[in-house]
Amino acid sequence: MKNVGVLGLGTYVPDKVFTNFDFEKILDTSDEWITEMTGIKERRFAEDDMDTSDMAVIAAERALEDSGVGKEDIDLVIVATSTGDHRFPAVANILQDRLGLNNVPSMDQLAACTGFIYSMITASQFIQAGTYKNVLVVGVDKLSKIADFTDRSTAVLFGDGAGAAVMGEVDEGFGIRSFELGSKGSGGQYLYDDKDDGKLRMNGREVFKFAVRQMGESSVNVTEKAGFTNEDIDMLVPHQANIRIMDAARERMKMPKERMSSTIDKYGNTSAASIPLSIHHELKNGKIKAGDNLVLVGFGGGLTWGAICLTWGKNKEETHD
Ligand code: COA
Repeated sequence: MKNVGVLGLGTYVPDKVFTNFDFEKILDTSDEWITEMTGIKERRFAEDDMDTSDMAVIAAERALEDSGVGKEDIDLVIVATSTGDHRFPAVANILQDRLGLNNVPSMDQLAACTGFIYSMITASQFIQAGTYKNVLVVGVDKLSKIADFTDRSTAVLFGDGAGAAVMGEVDEGFGIRSFELGSKGSGGQYLYDDKDDGKLRMNGREVFKFAVRQMGESSVNVTEKAGFTNEDIDMLVPHQANIRIMDAARERMKMPKERMSSTIDKYGNTSAASIPLSIHHELKNGKIKAGDNLVLVGFGGGLTWGAICLTWGKNKEETHD
């Protein structure tokens, strides 16, 4: 059995910071309410002339550079997004062209905020089967395109961003150890884009209840499937939707705050980008190192959910302890 992991990571967030105080100017809301109810302080919004694929290109270039894998060696491109530039062509098709990759297969995958986890697992199956060697996986969303800026209960939650990973074979003892994916289409009515105006609609209460239950359960499941206990997990990296949902998953895992990645205050909910953005943040500040065991866990529209337990890094030479 091949071990499949992340060979390199890259991210991008737009420069434009939109704070809770900026929202106070356009909606009947307050920094206090948003902070208390969600943990969000600010988020990034892409300018009109920067579309989803533009963010994806930058994150992907950075991931390629970080991985040391040449463009000519990428065999497949999967982009997790629900806010593509067009219905078609796919963002992945645009990316294949703009990165100058060979005429390899490229496709978008839609599992809303769970997208990056779905795409990592899809990529890993191709690699494990020996069909493809190196797969470029991107999680990217420009939620500001579909946010309803007249609805205070949803507009304040989201931000724009991109994260990319080059996935391939890693040494034994590294990479993905277990995963879980799921969906429950009957809950699709709780989070969707309106057919009339294309804007995001949500039943926050229902999504919250589902997320609190599922994030905890999936985290525990993948930890056990990997043969680990919570003590073995160095960091929980949850989808950044709401600090209260994240904390509920962490508490179910019986893990202290220091062992959970939290970037929600800075970026809000960046949908398919939130997990790679968080991993990158922790790598930069030294809180994730090669050899660390991580649980990535997410949920989103669909309703969908997924979790991965993996050991970060490619080989022993990278580990320092
Ligand atoms: N500022 C101030 N008040 C707000 C507000 C805002 N931005 N948004 C909603 N409110 C108000 C509501 O209007 C309501 O007022 P009312 O009681 O006078 O009618 C009150 O706050 C409670 O609203 P409700 O929607 O019931 O709150 P809630 O406890 O469910 O919290 C969320 C709202 C959005 C924070 C919460 O439901 C949530 O996080 N859900 C999950 C969403 C999510 O993760 N989505 C992404 C999935 S990937």
